[in-house]
Amino acid sequence: MLKRLSKYPICESKQVPMKFEKRILCIGAGYVGGPTMAVIAAKCPRYGVTVVDVARGRIDAWNSGKPPIYEPGLDDVVRSALGRNLFFSTDIARGIRENDIIFVSVNTPTKTFGAGAGMAADLQYWELVARQILEHAESSKIVIEKSTLPVKTAQAMERILMSRNDGVHFDVLSNPEFLAEGTAIRDLLCPDRVLIGSRETERGLKAREELVEIYANWVPRERIVTSNIWSSELSKLASNFFLAQRISTINAISAICEKTGADVSEVARIVGMDSRIGGKFLNASVGFGGSCFKKDILNLVYLCRVEGLEEVADYLERVVRINEYQKERFVLNMLRAMFNTLAGKKICLFGFAFKADTGDTRQSPAIDVARRLLEEHAEVVVTDPQALANAREDLAGVEKGLSFVEDPYEAVRGCHAIAVMTEWTLYRGLDYRKILDLMVKPAFIFDGRNILDHKALFELGFNVYPIGKRPLSHF
Ligand code: UDX
Ligand code: UDX
Repeated sequence: MLKRLSKYPICESKQVPMKFEKRILCIGAGYVGGPTMAVIAAKCPRYGVTVVDVARGRIDAWNSGKPPIYEPGLDDVVRSALGRNLFFSTDIARGIRENDIIFVSVNTPTKTFGAGAGMAADLQYWELVARQILEHAESSKIVIEKSTLPVKTAQAMERILMSRNDGVHFDVLSNPEFLAEGTAIRDLLCPDRVLIGSRETERGLKAREELVEIYANWVPRERIVTSNIWSSELSKLASNFFLAQRISTINAISAICEKTGADVSEVARIVGMDSRIGGKFLNASVGFGGSCFKKDILNLVYLCRVEGLEEVADYLERVVRINEYQKERFVLNMLRAMFNTLAGKKICLFGFAFKADTGDTRQSPAIDVARRLLEEHAEVVVTDPQALANAREDLAGVEKGLSFVEDPYEAVRGCHAIAVMTEWTLYRGLDYRKILDLMVKPAFIFDGRNILDHKALFELGFNVYPIGKRPLSHF
């Protein structure tokens, strides 16, 4: 998902010198591996940290000091350690040979084929990495699952790695990452908790302590939680389920609000004031996106189905289904509001990233909304400050009726409606009087993130349709 990388110069840095106190490798230089290793390197100058990846373009971008992902604060962290004790390379075999502690942070997408298609995790990259470690290791290693994985993956990893009998030993740990995109650096520098799961054997506990020691360089000890390895794997999936569940719950409530005249922001505030519930993650929206929530929930659903826990599987799966329903409901609300036809109407999507402060569009609700609008024969104009390159790829093959425009004022020219897909701060500060002048009347705004000043927009002349609130319409 990291694109347009060829413009970066190729300048592969040397791999980690022997002088470092600990020698750490991460396989996978993506949204998780890159920032996580950059922070470890920045916080632990005594350790050498190498990140390897099969994708040369990405490695070149990291080495250029201009990371291939947009993440606030990341550039500075990378620059502070790059070439000092942070190295990026495509030489995976050498990385494995020269380092003792190996994080694995390759992608684990949902399987698209065979048994469990559309639900189970595709572990082929993961297994490939395990086999590479097995092949190239010349000494014992600690192997750390950083990727989010189905429960019991560590066992599979162990079984592959245990097949050597030459005295080289591998200890497998689970250390799931809880960072959220857009706030990754803050989350890594000041995490709510760091979770480390291990086997409860003497070797397992020793390996666990080694990893605790790394994080203890900047994370208070009481925030470093240790557990058995299966609890660790499951806690990561369970956490993502809890978070996604809150969003689907408030989104379900938003549908009731729209029918009853209640206001979802008021309901969320009131419900969230109960300290047992808490106020975070209760923003009604067009739906959640991102590479994790859907994938991880479906992973759990698959596990439940395989284990015969049908009732649990159905319960968990509902969270994903409500999310699909919310996106469809958003499009149907647009259709109804705009006189039951979108054919030939021009609709501008404000934002395409799955959330603000990232260029990542994986599972972004904007993808489904754009596709549905095109199915209704609307013309779709996409604007986003960081995600246009990814948006083009996501919508490749459906170019008819589709355009991409960086400047929001240019993007809205001749449009009948705006649909806010991403909560970029930028969209709050635009000159909506000017925007109204550029649009076809009657002009509509569908605020899929409830970030705009609805009353002010209505007074300017817009017909405004928020999520979970009474529409403000001039008809
Ligand atoms: C991570 C985790 O790996 C995933 O399990 C979790 O759920 C979300 O976060 P992320 O860092 O977002 O994924 O993925 P991505 O940005 O796609 O990065 C993975 C990297 O691994 C890619 O750069 C890819 O080229 C690399 N890779 C993949 C390898 O180096 N070797 C492989 O065999 C496969
Ligand atoms: C999530 C988890 O938060 C993180 O702990 C885990 O490591 C990876 O998955 P991420 O997907 O990067 O992180 O972003 P997050 O902030 O959780 O947002 C996910 C989606 O939910 C976004 O589309 C966001 O816009 C949406 N969301 C979030 C809502 O619709 N309403 C909310 O109240 C919060």
